[in-house]
Amino acid sequence: MIKIEHLSQKFNDNLVLDDISLSIEKGKIHFIIGMSGTGKTVLVKHIVGLLKPVNGRVIFENKDITKLKQKEMEKTRKKITYIFQNSTLFDNLTLYENIKLPLIKNKLEGNVEKFLKLVNIEKYQNKYPYEIGESIKKRTAIARGLAMNPEYIIYDEPTTGLSYSDARNIDSLISNMAKELNVTAIVISHDLKSIFSIADRITMLHKGKILLDGTINDFKNSKDEVIQQFINAKAEGVI
Ligand SMILES: Nc1ncnc2c1ncn2[C@@H]1O[C@H](COP(=O)(O)OP(=O)(O)O)[C@@H](O)[C@H]1O
Ligand SMILES: [Mg+2]
Repeated sequence: MIKIEHLSQKFNDNLVLDDISLSIEKGKIHFIIGMSGTGKTVLVKHIVGLLKPVNGRVIFENKDITKLKQKEMEKTRKKITYIFQNSTLFDNLTLYENIKLPLIKNKLEGNVEKFLKLVNIEKYQNKYPYEIGESIKKRTAIARGLAMNPEYIIYDEPTTGLSYSDARNIDSLISNMAKELNVTAIVISHDLKSIFSIADRITMLHKGKILLDGTINDFKNSKDEVIQQFINAKAEGVI
């Protein structure tokens, strides 16, 4: 379990996260949703030590990981992998090498072929990132994250910028990986189709606060205007 406790973050006068508390349970697919610019990415960056909070803690394995020194944080980063929104592949490396490199850097065994196969990109393994489409890049980034054998994997907007059918394929991939590899998935998204097809739990951020933390049904049944607007507007493709 990852426990976020009373987390606050601000940039200049912009209070982005205002006393957020939230638990992420193991074995689940946990969505963090909300409008663009509400602090979803900022929130998860605290889980992997990329940002230090102005207040609050993130408890993982009985430690406040916001206080860890870089060396200790590196150990945690092997257990909690963050897949950036832009796949951040190295242009001068093939897809195979992109997956292999972090394994070498972290002195990890890891069967690159197995992960290429899991995400169904074996046939592209010798291609370079500029030779492939966005969906294959996302798959490569996911394979690279999974190859680290993490307990948690954070997907930041995994379906944004993909075609409808590619997005659904990524949904299935996230869902299958959670089940097959027993990796807890934290998914940042505003893709309603993804949310309502694979989420076990959903946390919605709005104006620095948690508007709702619950199940798909809790969201569908919520009378809150902002939530209803989010659900309906997105369904009509307005936002
Ligand atoms: N490093 C930073 N410095 C200053 N402002 C930031 C920084 N990172 C994010 N922000 C601001 O915090 C807010 C939330 O950003 P973000 O978490 O990226 O939103 P999203 O929910 O779309 O992921 C935005 O207003 C953004 O401009
Ligand atoms: Mg973001």
